[in-house]
Amino acid sequence: MRRYTFAVATCVLACACSAVGAGDPGSDDFDGKGDTPQTAPFPSFTADQLPSDWQHYSRYKFKLAQRYPGTMPQPSDLGFMRIDFKSDTDRYLSAVRAYVFEGFIHAGEETNGHPDQDFRAELNMARNWHSVPWMHTGAHPREGLHGLTRELDAPPGKLDPSQTDTLQDWGVAFYNDLGGYTIGQVWKNHVAPNAAASRFPEGTVVFKILFTEGDPQQVPWIEGAPIWWANIDADIDAKGAKQVAEVRLVQMDIAVKDGRAATGWVYGTFVFDPNADVSADEVSKYGAYAKMMPVGLSFGNDPDKTPGMTLEETILSSKVPPHARNTLGFGGRMNGPADNPLSACQSCHSTAEWPAVSAMAPRRTMTLSQKMRWFRNLAVGEPFDSGQTSLGTSLQLQISLRNFFAGH
Ligand code: HEC
Repeated sequence: MRRYTFAVATCVLACACSAVGAGDPGSDDFDGKGDTPQTAPFPSFTADQLPSDWQHYSRYKFKLAQRYPGTMPQPSDLGFMRIDFKSDTDRYLSAVRAYVFEGFIHAGEETNGHPDQDFRAELNMARNWHSVPWMHTGAHPREGLHGLTRELDAPPGKLDPSQTDTLQDWGVAFYNDLGGYTIGQVWKNHVAPNAAASRFPEGTVVFKILFTEGDPQQVPWIEGAPIWWANIDADIDAKGAKQVAEVRLVQMDIAVKDGRAATGWVYGTFVFDPNADVSADEVSKYGAYAKMMPVGLSFGNDPDKTPGMTLEETILSSKVPPHARNTLGFGGRMNGPADNPLSACQSCHSTAEWPAVSAMAPRRTMTLSQKMRWFRNLAVGEPFDSGQTSLGTSLQLQISLRNFFAGH
């Protein structure tokens, strides 16, 4: 695999800098003065996550978007909330994609050959987007160039039958103002988070873009996909050393809080399709991102449908790329190529609770009825395990709380 590496000394400095309050290498406006522990900015990433030669790859460092609104926002630009996602699935997904893309894509702006300004919340002039804090520590800390965290690895054959290596996948997510308001409520006191405040208002939009270190030889359908530089793990077993490498966009997930859905949420996904038929207008606005095509959406877990039965709460888009038909979830439920096939979007996210008790996905060896426990339609605010606190389907909040309490 082609790598563009300049060895990065990882630990010595890094470990010294990773303590809270030691400064935020990703934040330009951090001055550390006058802040109390309750209000001091959250670090964007730890110093070991940025290579010393980072400017060779990027003009920007990841900056945690943490100006959470203090009062409930009243957005007027959520037109997709009026589109019937069941009967008008393609139009709904296209409207959510336009909402997410607007202001985030800066076609033609590159550093060292690759897009650099895209999906940086601080450069988005269309609307505010927010990040979840406390994803800079733990088993999968944010890297310093784009704030990506390491996702589930893709074993050989997972993304495509021609894939021979196990590949690292990396992703980053953002919440709109309504979601940012909730993050700010949970994290109002920076040293005493309140899990019970995880109640996302209607119209919350969250999206996550996912990249793979694989190239088109391994995964032919990512030929022509946007390529970023990212400070990923030098080896698949993540023994500590990092290196900057090319990663290619494979998938974009969206989640929208919408009371019309059985679970209160619509989950949908898009994948790159090199053969997508896109208009010149879309290409001029979105560049290579224009070829992120809808797979479909789910608005519930289809609790009564065992494998082989026709689903009612997953709807495929009429434009689903052929390769994405092979990477759906349990019993055909909505899922993307990067996700665990024993599970599905809604199912995995229904386990977001604090403290977490159950695993995110059922085990292969479980009986069918045991597995179906992961496909219940929980009411909004209902935790997966009784007695726990629901995190409103946000697994990032779960990671954030876990990382915070691991250090306290
Ligand atoms: C097997 C578990 C699993 C499956 C299946 C899964 N996710 Fe996630 N998802 C996660 C985890 C863990 C995170 C938090 C870490 C991160 O950001 O990657 C996450 C993060 C997200 C986020 C960012 C906000 C949040 O809730 O934390 C969105 C949006 C999202 N996923 C959407 C989807 C969609 C859409 C699908 C299906 C196409 C999906 N997910 C399938 C585990 C899963």
